[in-house]
Amino acid sequence: MVKEHISAGDNYKRLLDNNRKFVAKKLAEDPMFFHHLAKGQSPDFLWVGCSDSRVPANEITGTESGEIFVHRNVANIVDLTDMNFLSVLHYSVDVLKVRHIIVCGHYGCGGVLAAMGNTHIGVANHWLTHIKDVYNQNRVELESMVEEDERGRRLVELNVLQQVKNLAKIPHVQKAWKHRELQIHGWVYGLSDGILHDLDAMHDGLNDIDPIYRYDNL
Ligand code: CO
Repeated sequence: MVKEHISAGDNYKRLLDNNRKFVAKKLAEDPMFFHHLAKGQSPDFLWVGCSDSRVPANEITGTESGEIFVHRNVANIVDLTDMNFLSVLHYSVDVLKVRHIIVCGHYGCGGVLAAMGNTHIGVANHWLTHIKDVYNQNRVELESMVEEDERGRRLVELNVLQQVKNLAKIPHVQKAWKHRELQIHGWVYGLSDGILHDLDAMHDGLNDIDPIYRYDNL
């Protein structure tokens, strides 16, 4: 990668040009497209994904503007002290009343692979400690795998499963379950083939979570 030796130049203008083409295409399909969008949003889905540029939520799911409320961070972590994430969750669950929350990891995730190693890479190590904890909890299974690649893929899946569980611990989510349907899903995206895999870890009620995490006065 020698990117830093090449002038940034006018590369960014391509994005603005593309935007004008996007607008023209949308208006050709539906002259009222932006008029309707501007009125408000009512997405059915909250997406919790990795910041990785190769995993764009709308593009890989064939969805349009207005269909998915999105939160992305390094390695799709559900951190119960992250005000940014909690604000996104509160608004999407309590106000927008999304019906599905999708935690989507991806194979080859740089954050997960870094968490498997012992190199200090800076402040990101604090964040990636969440994944080291997942590794530690599943050490026997992971270290039974000979191939590092296989171990990395499994840790990507285990990380998604843990974040699905973390979502179920949140009082806002449990409160929603008392009144309506809300499903939490764990998916993994394959960078090399573009396929989304459902890990079949759907949670849709208090019965799925350990009693110590349940609140009975919501
Ligand atoms: Co990633």
